[in-house]
Amino acid sequence: MLGNFKYCNPTKLYFGDESLNYLSDELKNYGKNIVLIYGGGSIKKNGIYDEVINILKKNNKNITEISGVMPNPTVEKLYEGIEIARSANADLLLAVGGGSVIDYAKAVAVSIYCNEDPWDKYFIKFDEPDCKIVPVGCVLTMVGTGSEMNAGSVITNPKQKLKIGHVFQSEEVMPRFAILNPIYTLTLPEYQMVAGIYDIFSHICEQYFSGEDDNTSDYISEGLMRSLIHSSLIAKKNPNDYEARSNIMWTATWALNTLIAKGKSTDWMVHMLGQAVGAITNATHGMTLSAVSLPYYRYIMKYGLNKFVRFAKNVWNIDDTNKSKEEVATEGLNAMEAWMNELGLIMNISKLGATKEMIEDLVNATIILEGGYKLLNKEEIKEIFIKSL
Ligand code: NZQ
Ligand code: ZN
Repeated sequence: MLGNFKYCNPTKLYFGDESLNYLSDELKNYGKNIVLIYGGGSIKKNGIYDEVINILKKNNKNITEISGVMPNPTVEKLYEGIEIARSANADLLLAVGGGSVIDYAKAVAVSIYCNEDPWDKYFIKFDEPDCKIVPVGCVLTMVGTGSEMNAGSVITNPKQKLKIGHVFQSEEVMPRFAILNPIYTLTLPEYQMVAGIYDIFSHICEQYFSGEDDNTSDYISEGLMRSLIHSSLIAKKNPNDYEARSNIMWTATWALNTLIAKGKSTDWMVHMLGQAVGAITNATHGMTLSAVSLPYYRYIMKYGLNKFVRFAKNVWNIDDTNKSKEEVATEGLNAMEAWMNELGLIMNISKLGATKEMIEDLVNATIILEGGYKLLNKEEIKEIFIKSL
């Protein structure tokens, strides 16, 4: 392991089909004023809303609601939520939903007592909060982002055509507790389930395809990828398979709670490309990643060849007998492509609404990050978007 690092993850997890029972224990740690945050209504249809409300009432809490948090939450919605949470004098923000709802709750949490414009401060200047941060807890209903155990928050500004994620340094931004009941994910439409599965896979890849040293984190990543590939194919055939869905849920959390990034560099370019697509088209997050991944990885393969060979052998079981490194690495990416097709992922940005005319905007919306095997320039980014069309 190279480098020096700190590792601390303060989020307390409750996992399993009875995990909501622990909500009452957690609520005792907070004041009376609970702001319940949720999305467009799925939790009302599947009964999770009623279950949570009953527990809040039994604990004599005052309940204020912020509803209608949309996928890819917007800055306008953020401003609205800050006002509601401020008026409610929130003691706890309880997010019940997927990554969008949890990310949104974190953005509200750092903004309630902030005197500056939160978009400028946190998402343009990437400042850290210097005010009180209201605690966030969550009940997860959609699997993929890892937001339940990290300090990331992604907000979209449609007017500025920007979708920006801030991974806060402060541990106080991370959910204090997260309730992970795999049963809650069974009502997800298949499109969202597979988008989430690819989001998880991409998170692992983006921490795996970097560095040259022998690093424990990469071995953990390979194990997570193998488990995910296995469970995803079972879940695709039978979405009600509890074993597969629970494994996917657990893998998602470990894929992005910073563990597998420890002691190494990371390459978040697929997310930067995908977020640009999301900013312009408002498409589902995981699908924006699947649509740009292969053109990106095929482009950088030659710069990180040894790692792509390792990926082919250790993740996809490619036999390397009498083959060149290029052949093995290529077969690995081909196997990944076959798996993606089997899941029914979106493989082109044109299927998400992107057009040739949007390429310029897409390039401008892409933040270029270091850490991978090849630092891209704008021309290369343009090429990758054209290949993704
Ligand atoms: O809004 P409702 O009605 O609840 O419907 C949601 C939404 O339409 C639905 N859904 C969620 N749980 C459901 C359900 N439908 C039926 N049954 C259930 N149990 O699913 C749709 C998508 O939900 P959303 O929360 O948007 O999905 P996801 O969890 O993929 O979150 C995406 C957001 O997270 C950000 C993305 O950029 C995007 O904005 N990310 C956050 C990260 C982080 N915090 O670290 C990292 C990720 O890479 C990602 O960028
Ligand atoms: Zn993601």
